This record gives sequence, structure tokens and C-alpha cells, in this order.
Amino acid sequence: MERLYVNGGKPLKGTIEVGGMKNAALPILFATILIGDKCIIENLPEIKDIDNALNIIKAMGAKLRKLRKGAWEIDTRDVIPCSAPDELAGKMRASYYVLGAELARFGKAYTACPGGCDFGKRPVDQHIKGFEALGATVTQDVSGIHCNAEGGLTGNQIYMDVASVGATINVMLAAATAEGQTVIDNAAREPHIVDVANFLNSCGADIRGAGTEVIKINGKKDLHGETYAIIPDMIEAGTYMAAAAATGGDLTVTNVIPKHLETITAKLQEMGCDVTSDGDSVRVVGNLPLKKARIKTLPYPGFPTDMHPQFSVLLAIAEGESRMTESVMENRFKYVEELRRMGAEIEVDEKTAIIKGVPELHAATVRATDLRAGAAMVIAALATNGGTWIDDVYHIERGYEDMCGKLVACGADIRKIKVEI
Ligand code: EPU
Repeated sequence: MERLYVNGGKPLKGTIEVGGMKNAALPILFATILIGDKCIIENLPEIKDIDNALNIIKAMGAKLRKLRKGAWEIDTRDVIPCSAPDELAGKMRASYYVLGAELARFGKAYTACPGGCDFGKRPVDQHIKGFEALGATVTQDVSGIHCNAEGGLTGNQIYMDVASVGATINVMLAAATAEGQTVIDNAAREPHIVDVANFLNSCGADIRGAGTEVIKINGKKDLHGETYAIIPDMIEAGTYMAAAAATGGDLTVTNVIPKHLETITAKLQEMGCDVTSDGDSVRVVGNLPLKKARIKTLPYPGFPTDMHPQFSVLLAIAEGESRMTESVMENRFKYVEELRRMGAEIEVDEKTAIIKGVPELHAATVRATDLRAGAAMVIAALATNGGTWIDDVYHIERGYEDMCGKLVACGADIRKIKVEI
């Protein structure tokens, strides 16, 4: 078993470079299946979820070659449809992108029911509704999701009942080679949706409007392989920005797109931090004590749900009473019990955490209950005097490349320790 030990209480000072965005890289890796050619994908983060996605594609018959750090050549010409192994696909959420990619290329698709972080119910009804509107037959059973469209897919008008990131991308993948035009209305607008559209367009697709509520896809049959670099990860960047704020540090986060960080920046400024951006970097100077705030998560360009637990840590040590309302996921409050072990005063009322700031948290043994909750535990531990142990670190490694190394370089005392059990 591996645990993290954090001896906190030291302000973070220095520079951290962020890697490629996990939630863009995953769909783009699965999208190479639909291209059916050689692609080179660059700026891939070296994290467990990417390893898993590469293993799924390899098990399906793709030939993979690592060119250098973060860059892989992926040849999907010999991929066998409906062959994603259940034990790998069931471990992650993004494996559902196999469906859109396989439907577009082979007219049939299968994947095990997707795994990923436990935020309560995470239905896939909008994905299914989209595939069906394009002419596929979809059945879901205990083994997984089966799609069939032997006569091919035909473009259609699809209204998303919720602006789902996954469903928008999956329908975009399926529609990329469909006959005629597909229009996705009430589409999600996250930067990773734009990145997937840009990748597909570079391979010959015709997708317009990604990043707005209406995406128009004119199906194209002849797609070809390309070299494509993934955009920077705004959530990794936001996590280190929050860590700088929590520790009263002075941190410059590089390789970012400041526009993607506007809501995170605005909230940090409201809480009393100095945040300045310059080209492709952002500097955060944390001024303790932080000021209270009210935050509500929303689809992009609103405050990201994937920054919710990290900001709850900031509110837990801010002066006065704050609110964190979750409006994207059914239940994202598992971290609350862990933060309470460190002395945080938090009550959850339906979808809102009411957080009474305390002057400081105390060291404890806590768990990473999911990926971003794990990042929140690291931030809390960095801001706390004394030694905190964090269990279930594999969650953190699914989404953060070398978090310990990056933090140690900025003065943190954080170590991964192997424990025999
Ligand atoms: N939803 C439906 N029906 C659907 C799809 C979604 O009701 O068919 C609901 C969900 O239950 C949820 C909301 O819509 O309440 C938003 O879900 P969405 O589909 O947008 O999320 P996702 O595709 O499952 C991705 C990221 C998450 C991130 C969310 C929101 C990946 C692999 N995952 O999930 O990332 O929280 O978008 O931005 O891209 C993370 O990186 O830590 C993470 C959890």
C-alpha cells in the first residue's frame, strides 16, 4: 500500500509547470480509434488514467510507440471493434468514448459500464439519446453498453437535456463520419470539447461551434491521421493555485491558458489573493487569512465542479462563514468527513456545504475519497502544521503527474511511502 506523508505549514514558493489536460487527452486517445490511421498525440500527461486508456486501445489491436515523454504514435488501422477489455474499461469513466469512436468507424460498439469517481448517480442517458437520434440501436445490460448501426449513422438535431461534457463529446465522435449534418443543441462548452473538435478537424472532420451551445458537425468519410498536442490542464493549474493560496505562498504556474482560469482567478482574488497572469503563466500570492466566499459549481464558463473540494479547503480556513454549492454532480461531498478529521467545521445541507472557517486545521490521517478530493487533502495537509497521512493515493495518481515532485520543488515536505500490509 502507498500513502502520502505531508509535513505541512510551509508556504509554497517557486514555479510549477502543468501538463496536458486529462479530460481532453482521454477522449482524443479514444478518438484515434475512429481515425483508423497513424496519429501522433503530444503533451499527454503521465498519469494512471492515460496509461489505462493506452492499454485499452492497445488491447483492441492498436500499435503504440512512445516517441518521447508525453508523446505517443498510435496506429489504429488494425483495431478490432467491440474488443475493449471489461476489466480495463470498467476502471474509468472516459472508456465510454469507445462507443462514439467505434460507432463512427464500424457501425457497432461495445464497452463495459464506465467506472470513475463516485459522485452518486452518473447516468449515460444523454449519450444513448444522441446515438439513437443518429440511428443506432442501444441496449444496456449488466455487462455493459451495446450499440448497433449497421446501416450507418445519419445526422440529426439533438438537444442535450443536461449540458454533459461526456455526451457532447461522444455524440461529436459518432457524428464525425455520419451522413449529413448533426446539430447538438445545449452542448457543453468546456475547453476540452474545443480541443477534441480541433483534433478531429485537423484529421479532416468538419465540426463548427465547439465552445458554444450549438455544435454543427458535417459528416466526413475520409479522415486521416495527424500530429496533435493536447491543451494545458486547467484543473491541475487551479489545484496548484489553490495550494499557493492555502499556504500563503507565492507560486507561478506555467504552461496555462489564463482565459480557462478566469473563474478560479476571480474567486481567489475575492478571497484576498493577488493573482496576475502573463501570457501563458499565472502567479498567485496567497494572503492569509483568506476572506470568506460563496461558490456555486456550474458547467463552463462557470466555476468548475472539479475545483470544488480544493476550494472547500480554502473556505475551511477563511475568516467567517462560507458556502460551497454543488450543482453539477449529484453528490460530491465525500471529502467533508475527511476534512472534519482535520478540524474543519462543515455541515452539508442538501447540495450546499456551510463552512465555518477555523484559524487552522490540524494534522490527521485522512483518505483520498476520489481524485479531486485527494488533491484537496494534499492542499489541506500543506496548509497544516504537523504531519498528515493520506491514504488511497491511487486516486490522486489517476489525474496528477508527479504531484509530489512538483510540490517538493516549491518547498513542500511531501513524500510517498510504501507500507507493507
Ligand atoms: N449527466 C446525465 N446524463 C448523461 C450524462 C451526464 O444526467 O447522459 C449528468 C451527470 O450525472 C452529472 C452532469 O450531467 O450530474 C454532468 O456530467 P458530465 O457528463 O458533464 O460529466 P462526465 O462527462 O461524466 C466529465 C469529467 C469529470 C468532470 C465532469 C464535469 C471526464 C473523463 N470526466 O465527466 O472529471 O467532473 O465532466 O466537468 O472527462 C475529474 O477529472 O476529476 C472528473 C470527475
